[in-house]
Order: sequence, then structure tokens, then C-alpha cells
Amino acid sequence: LKLDWDVARSETAEVEGILLTKKTCDQWNKIWNFRASPNDLLIATYAKAGTTWIQEIVDMIQHDGDLKKCKRANTYERQPFIEWVLQRPLSSGLELAEAMPPPRTLKTHLPTQLVPPSFWEQNSKIIYVARNPKDCLVSYYHFNRMNQKMPDPGTWEEFIEKFMDGKVLWGSWYDHVKGWWEAKDNHRILYLFYEDMKENPRCEIQKVLEFLEKDLNEGILDKIIHHTTFQIMKDNPMANYTSLPPAIMNHSISPFMRKGDVGDWKNHFTVAQNERFDEDYRKKMAGATLTFRTEL
Ligand code: A3P
Repeated sequence: LKLDWDVARSETAEVEGILLTKKTCDQWNKIWNFRASPNDLLIATYAKAGTTWIQEIVDMIQHDGDLKKCKRANTYERQPFIEWVLQRPLSSGLELAEAMPPPRTLKTHLPTQLVPPSFWEQNSKIIYVARNPKDCLVSYYHFNRMNQKMPDPGTWEEFIEKFMDGKVLWGSWYDHVKGWWEAKDNHRILYLFYEDMKENPRCEIQKVLEFLEKDLNEGILDKIIHHTTFQIMKDNPMANYTSLPPAIMNHSISPFMRKGDVGDWKNHFTVAQNERFDEDYRKKMAGATLTFRTEL
């Protein structure tokens, strides 16, 4: 496949005040009208919360720990990213989803209010993963640098401000995690935390097994835990996004599988930036019952 890659960064636009790529906004009607099937599973996250990680865990569970089956295709082909639109002739997430027979496992970064209504109407199961904002911000900053289809993050200083203002793709982290936290009281949503997955993958994978009504023996569970560790996934070409051309993801700027840790924010935030962030955080999260761990 020889393509003239569009090397420009994505233009952005908004849907209901949420920043998205212009390509996504141009397709918004189709995305909004996406028809979910009752047995489709939706994996929802704010960007950089551990989406790829939970995607691999879910795929392993669905295929009873069969590694070969999980290497059948790239993450983004196995579990289409419904609102993501790439340059022609690459298929959009929506096209990939529509070409796939249900039950499908799909990915989204949309906040609850922008999730296609069909998912709620069909009562689809949803797995949400949340990650503490500081590590999420750091990861997002590096991702915006390396992913040439994301808006330019600007300097680290500038990016912190954009993140706090919600002027990044998929909008405010604060509203996102709170919105999904509230939604779980009315829908079939398993709400997980990156930090818990890191601390005790066995326990969190067990929750996913129960949620998906699957029963796998200890041996298979061990295999899933091993196969979905950061080190193994970093070397898995079907999960580490190295199959994309550098015109889309440039791993020499920062690898997609970057650190996979809790607490890397400490290597980025200055004391002053951290204080400012915490103060703003307290305001934005006031009254929320949701809490995050920024270290283990
Ligand atoms: P870092 O940039 O902090 O390393 P997403 O898949 O939502 O885009 O999230 C990507 C983040 O999850 C990156 O974080 C990536 O390294 C991390 N990640 C991916 N696979 C992981 C795994 N198996 N264990 C822990 N972290 C993982």
C-alpha cells in the first residue's frame, strides 16, 4: 500500500463543546446514529487511561487465553475505535465496526453525553477504565507529540493548561471521569482504575471475567496476566501500534508503550505546577465521590 501521507496535524472542531478532530465532526451524524447490537461490548476510556491494556485483556478473555487468536490483527482492527476517522483509503473506526459481525467489542473515548444512543438503548455492557489525572496528562502530552494526527500539544507548560481547561481532544478529563462514574449507577458499566490494574491485575481481571460472565481456569488466568503485562505488550507488534507508519505515529519521538507506570508524573511536574494542578483539581472535583491514587 503506497500512500501519500498527509503530514499535517488534524484540524479540530467541536460537538456540544467537546473538542474532536474535524474529520470526526464531519462524520458526526453517522457516528451518532451508529447501531449497536445488544451483545456488543463497549470499552470506554478517557485517552491514555489504559485503553489498549484493557482491550488486550478483554480480547484474551474472549478467546479463552488463545494467544494466536489474539495476534490475528492489530488492536485497532480487532476492536474498532468508533469515532476515529483516518485519511482515505484507510477505513474509519465506524466502517471497521460496520463491517464486523456482532457481537463486537468496540472502543470509544467519548464522554457519556456523546456516546451513540443505541448503546444505551441496547443496554450494551460497557467497561470504563479511569487513570489518575497526572499520569494521564503526562501520557497524553507524549502521545500528542508522537501521534502526528493529534493536535500539536505545544510546550509542557502549555499542555498542562490545555488539559486543565479541557481544551484537548475528547474534552475535560474531569467531566469525563465524573460523567462515567455517575452513568454506572444506571447502566451495565464496569468501572475500573488503571492503578488497581497495576497493583493487582489478577483481582481486576477477575472482575472483568465476572462482568463478561466468563469462567476460566487459573492456568489461563495466569497466562492472561502474563500476556498483558506492560513488558510483553510493549513487544507485541499487534498491540504496540508499531504497524502504523511514522506519518501517523512516530515512536522515535515517544513510543506508544512509553512507561506504563503509576507516578511518572513526578518526573514531569515542578513543585509549583503540582500545587497549581492540585488546587484546580480540588475545585473541579469538589463534591465528587470519585477518588484517584497518584502513587502506589
Ligand atoms: P504511558 O504513556 O504512561 O506509558 P491508551 O491505551 O489509553 O492510549 O493508554 C496508553 C497508556 O497505557 C500508556 O501510558 C501505555 O504505556 C500504558 N499501557 C499500555 N499497555 C499497558 C500495560 N499492559 N500495562 C500498563 N500500562 C500500559
